[in-house]
Amino acid sequence: RPKTVFSGKNVLVTAGGTRERIDPVRFITNDSSGKMGYAIAAELVNRGANVTLISAPTRLTVPNGTHLVPVTTTEDLADAVVHHFPKADILVMAAAVADFRPKTSVDQKIKKTADNDEMTLSLVKTTDILKTAASLKQPGQLTVGFAAETQNLITNATKKLTSKQLDLLVANDVSQPGVGFNGDTNQVTILSRDKTPVQTALVSKTAVAATVVDELARLVDTKEG
Ligand code: PMT
Repeated sequence: RPKTVFSGKNVLVTAGGTRERIDPVRFITNDSSGKMGYAIAAELVNRGANVTLISAPTRLTVPNGTHLVPVTTTEDLADAVVHHFPKADILVMAAAVADFRPKTSVDQKIKKTADNDEMTLSLVKTTDILKTAASLKQPGQLTVGFAAETQNLITNATKKLTSKQLDLLVANDVSQPGVGFNGDTNQVTILSRDKTPVQTALVSKTAVAATVVDELARLVDTKEG
């Protein structure tokens, strides 16, 4: 492999949608296929990085050369990030993480009863993993977040860039056809703190991954002067 700014760098990439159990046969999840995160992991391997892929359940084949850490819930994912982040140079959070989980998960299948036409599921907030990473972040470490928005893309994404102390924020407007969850294409706007945003066309997730990794390379270069 050619020598790049990523040679010898440890990169943590998260991908897929977390699952939050309701009972033994039901869970809450989202439409993430893992494709975007896996494409970024593969691109980074090709550029010489040591990639640890923390993956929620997906149907995908693990990219060659990555070290897979399988997880299921948001709390599993949070624990894995906290465990691996100290040795990482870069964290990329492409996973679609549940913001809420059921307050209680029960051991037996929930039954419907004749006298009960409604049921209420109480949810509690999960750990904000990027906020946790921000509190652990050392000089020299870079963090990259995603923002999946359905309105006010740039305003909401800019808020996430600042509040989660990110170096890069990859924003996708998932209300648009062909953008975001599940498909093979995406269109993103990449925000950083030092440059006007970079926008991609609607292209393959592989091509989007290459542009995201180009922007990351620029930051690594800037940082290492
Ligand atoms: O997997 P695919 O089918 O290819 O779809 C790709 C994608 C749409 C999942 C991906 O492009 C994407 O947008 N991933 C982030 C989805 C998401 O959770 O976005 P968010 O705006 O809700 O969260 C913002 C950021 O905070 C994300 O980097 C997320 O990983 C992170 N987060 C969210 C919740 C939480 N409790 N902790 C977090 O760290």
